[in-house]
Amino acid sequence: MKALVLSGGAGTRLRPITHTSAKQLVPVANRAVLFYGLESLAAAGITDVGMIVGDTAAEIQEAVGDGSKFGLDITYIPQEQPLGLAHAVLIAQDYLGDDDFVMYLGDNFIVGGITDLVDEFRGNRPDAQILLTRVPDPRSFGVAELGPEGQVIGLEEKPERPRSDLALVGVYLFTPRIHEAVRSIEPSGRGELEITHALQHLIDSRADVRSTVIKGYWKDTGNVTDMLEVNRRVLETLDRRIDGETDERSETIGRVVLEEGARIVNSRVVGPVVIGAGTLVSDSYVGPFTSVAENCRITDSELEFSIVLRDSSIRGVGRIEASLIGRHVEVTPAPSVPRAHRLVLGDHSKVQIHS
Ligand code: G1P
Repeated sequence: MKALVLSGGAGTRLRPITHTSAKQLVPVANRAVLFYGLESLAAAGITDVGMIVGDTAAEIQEAVGDGSKFGLDITYIPQEQPLGLAHAVLIAQDYLGDDDFVMYLGDNFIVGGITDLVDEFRGNRPDAQILLTRVPDPRSFGVAELGPEGQVIGLEEKPERPRSDLALVGVYLFTPRIHEAVRSIEPSGRGELEITHALQHLIDSRADVRSTVIKGYWKDTGNVTDMLEVNRRVLETLDRRIDGETDERSETIGRVVLEEGARIVNSRVVGPVVIGAGTLVSDSYVGPFTSVAENCRITDSELEFSIVLRDSSIRGVGRIEASLIGRHVEVTPAPSVPRAHRLVLGDHSKVQIHS
């Protein structure tokens, strides 16, 4: 069994973070969301992975390499334009050959991995198997309608009026029967070959399409709260590990991961927290559910339930909560007069000011 991992696309929903970085590399507990997916494929016993890449190919390739650090053998397959998930299958057909495969969308996060699911598919070998999860607003997903016995009877891509709250999760298991289906469909209203339509084609041809409903799922729906939540869940699974340095005036409590080269000076860090290599926390408090990436400076500040990407600094600004801070960002106090907020914000930034 092979895997097809999709790592193209623009990532409009997580702007501004994805203006400058591939959405699959957005970090959860200081590691790219894509890495968790690759690890879960390796854990499910898969080694051959075709990776579909687009405009951000160089960045993805730099982060993932040949896959050997994950125990995978990765072949890169360039997609000239983001023409849809079914288009990705179409261009990967030579690579996939006659093998069954898992299609994994690189921006999806499945808590608990996919090993059970892959085992179940290998055991029963239906023509296709999809994953579903209940979401409050299914309109930004593919949506499934199930029959009385739980069989999939219909699928719609991002419907205005969803027929259920069961959203398609970005992990699909296919036999080679999918190839004929992706060749049979036409581009959708948004000009893409939709995998949802290919699945509907299978259902209409009386193929055996099964579904499993899961919990513990996250995708970049543009909702920072969701991202903080998935970060929180992953941090909760970490074990304490102090490879960096703390001075005698500092305290690190509970599940704290301090990477090598990180330093805590005259500060209090209450886990679960992860602090990246080369980051300095001084005269500060870092509270639960916070990830600070590499080479940051947190000085004379308080930070809780937040994500800070690499090379950023936060200095002398009191308390920051429930925030997502990008790379190379500086947060500093304004001069005392005039009493004004001074902002330099990139496109699509969002700021909430307490005044
Ligand atoms: C794609 C699929 C959609 C699915 C979603 C899961 O949407 O088209 O059916 O629910 O992935 O991540 P997209 O990310 O292309 O908007």
